[in-house]
Amino acid sequence: MTYEERLQHVSVLGAAGKMGSGILLLTAVEMADLSLKPGNKGKTFVLNAIDISDEALAGVMRYLRDQILKIAEKKVAGLRTVYAERRDLVDNDEIISQYIFDVMNVVRPTTRMESAYDSKMIFEAIKEDSALKIKIFSQINRNNSNQPWFFTNTSSIPITVLDEGAGLNGRIIGFHFYNPPAVQKLVEVIRSKNTLDEVHEFAMAYAKNLRKIVVPAHDIAGFIGNGHFMRDILYAVTEVHKLIKDMSVAEAIYAMNKISQEYLVRPMGIFQLIDYVGVDVCSFIMFVMNPFTKDEEIHSPLLDKLMGLGIKGGQFSDGSQKDGIMKYEKGKIVAVYDPVEEAYIPISRIQARVEEKLGKMPAPPAWKAIVGNKAKDEVLKTYFAEVKTAPGLGAGLTREYAKKSKDIGKHLVACGVAFSDADVNTVLLTGFFHAYGPINEYLD
Ligand SMILES: NC(=O)c1ccc[n+]([C@@H]2O[C@H](COP(=O)([O-])OP(=O)(O)OC[C@H]3O[C@@H](n4cnc5c(N)ncnc54)[C@H](O)[C@@H]3O)[C@@H](O)[C@H]2O)c1
Repeated sequence: MTYEERLQHVSVLGAAGKMGSGILLLTAVEMADLSLKPGNKGKTFVLNAIDISDEALAGVMRYLRDQILKIAEKKVAGLRTVYAERRDLVDNDEIISQYIFDVMNVVRPTTRMESAYDSKMIFEAIKEDSALKIKIFSQINRNNSNQPWFFTNTSSIPITVLDEGAGLNGRIIGFHFYNPPAVQKLVEVIRSKNTLDEVHEFAMAYAKNLRKIVVPAHDIAGFIGNGHFMRDILYAVTEVHKLIKDMSVAEAIYAMNKISQEYLVRPMGIFQLIDYVGVDVCSFIMFVMNPFTKDEEIHSPLLDKLMGLGIKGGQFSDGSQKDGIMKYEKGKIVAVYDPVEEAYIPISRIQARVEEKLGKMPAPPAWKAIVGNKAKDEVLKTYFAEVKTAPGLGAGLTREYAKKSKDIGKHLVACGVAFSDADVNTVLLTGFFHAYGPINEYLD
């Protein structure tokens, strides 16, 4: 079966979710572009958008239309060539409307899982629950005579567990988009023990057409992205526990968030990032990873406690940040939750005390100013050389955090999750928008 034939009948499971809706958009555009190729006239391309709620699917269809309009506006010159034979399409508006029609025409929203029984490819982005994924894969596999291929977006479940659990005989691969899939360039590709070569080849071709950066990872729970992120969280939490000998919990969380953002020159502090992803999602990823990580406890009682207190974070449907470990106003952190006091403590009440305790620090470059800057390596070298010798608690915590992040990266290579140091760095640079990779020599 050719690439095009494989993409003639596709289903996205969890199409109304954060990841599923993005995967749906990218795949709909890829399929519509194939359908508009001169040799494919008259061929039918079907993309089932499968989810459990009709209402959510209606929202996704509106999202698709808005996004396709933006895509069409950007590539209207190219679309003129695609529609060269259509003399009736004259103005840009007409071409754009036709393209929106052609892409939307591929998509069939449905709550019926049975629609996937005719598909040749299944993209899966339902919730991170291996029993549910296995149940659904088995059901489709049993009822689908096309020997379909499964592309799972799991963030942490080993692909071999899904492959063997659902009896797929290698017709599965981990195709781990980052959030949001339509924007983020990175995809981690993970083969199960049995993934067929042709499935992998297709994955690489599809990623190339979507202009994604592929980083391969071995099939070890959490892969590279969450393998680093979850351990980074656990380290920050350990440091919070040390700091509370001399500070309140809210102050310690604020301090570690500041160290991991400003002083490590990252786009977000670690606790803000947990809120962004969701306290519940992070906790659940740890829960999934933990049974697979020998000699290592991937579990945070602090996150469990926060969840028990109803502190969840995550985002509203318009993409704005919900309150979590931090409280946000217009995207800015205004307070930090203290699980002992069970209340948000305004930043104004903790900032001065924490800064006094952290002591004087070399002025860090702003992440925004250097992330796309060609001279960033020099700027970072100069900054970290000052951090290396600076006295005070803040400088010490920054050095230790950077070292831990590097150790985690090295561990991922040593235990076989990542193929190389460079792959770990690429994941943090592209998937997490860090300005530099964790495996570096700035503090050696
Ligand atoms: N959110 C992220 O940052 C992120 C990043 C990479 C990978 N992932 C992974 O992607 C997957 C989806 O995560 P998400 O954040 O998009 O979750 P989400 O909760 O936003 O979306 C899940 C969707 O699946 C639907 N669903 C649930 N059960 C279903 C069923 N039986 N049949 C069909 N649809 C069903 C839900 O209605 C929902 O729309 C998970 O495996 C997650 O680990 C998430």
